[in-house]
Amino acid sequence: KNIVLFASGGGSNAEKIMEYFAEKENFDVVGLFTNNPNAGAIDRAKNYNVPVFVFNREELNSDIVLQKVQALNPDIIVLAGFLWKFPSNIIDQYPNKVINIHPALLPKYGGKGMYGINVHRAVLENKEKESGITIHYVNDDYDEGNIIFQQAIAVEECLTPEDVALKVLSLEHEYFPRIIEELLQG
Ligand code: GRF
Repeated sequence: KNIVLFASGGGSNAEKIMEYFAEKENFDVVGLFTNNPNAGAIDRAKNYNVPVFVFNREELNSDIVLQKVQALNPDIIVLAGFLWKFPSNIIDQYPNKVINIHPALLPKYGGKGMYGINVHRAVLENKEKESGITIHYVNDDYDEGNIIFQQAIAVEECLTPEDVALKVLSLEHEYFPRIIEELLQG
């Protein structure tokens, strides 16, 4: 089973996924795509000998990235902290095979601009008792595809958005690789 990753940032989720599948016979992370030449995910991919593809916006929106993805014959395409809207030309080629992780309990705290620390700040400002993660299929709108999995965590005693971020990120690292494996096992 071939896994393709897209990441824009530090890549801690990408790393956990590469680590998780490194010793699994029938699963291979076959490529890491990024729009950010300085993404921490690049070095992490190199540590796992995963080929890296850096692209810009016109390459993403033309067929250049799509063709490179197709060449890897992915069984799943995983957005692990990818900050641009994912292009429909790839989604159309891989129906129900593109998934994303969002650091909140969608449908709340989602949508364009709701990423990273902004999400956790809004959760605290609204005095939410809990937050969590949402793993969902990607469609043409930010954070609106069908939900695959959610896990909540108490955030009542969190004092800062960074505290919430740490709790939520640990959920991401714990559950994202497992959910990917379950989806690939069918
Ligand atoms: C995570 O918060 C994830 O929920 C969101 O982007 C962030 C990625 O973090 N999609 P990292 O780059 O995997 O460390």
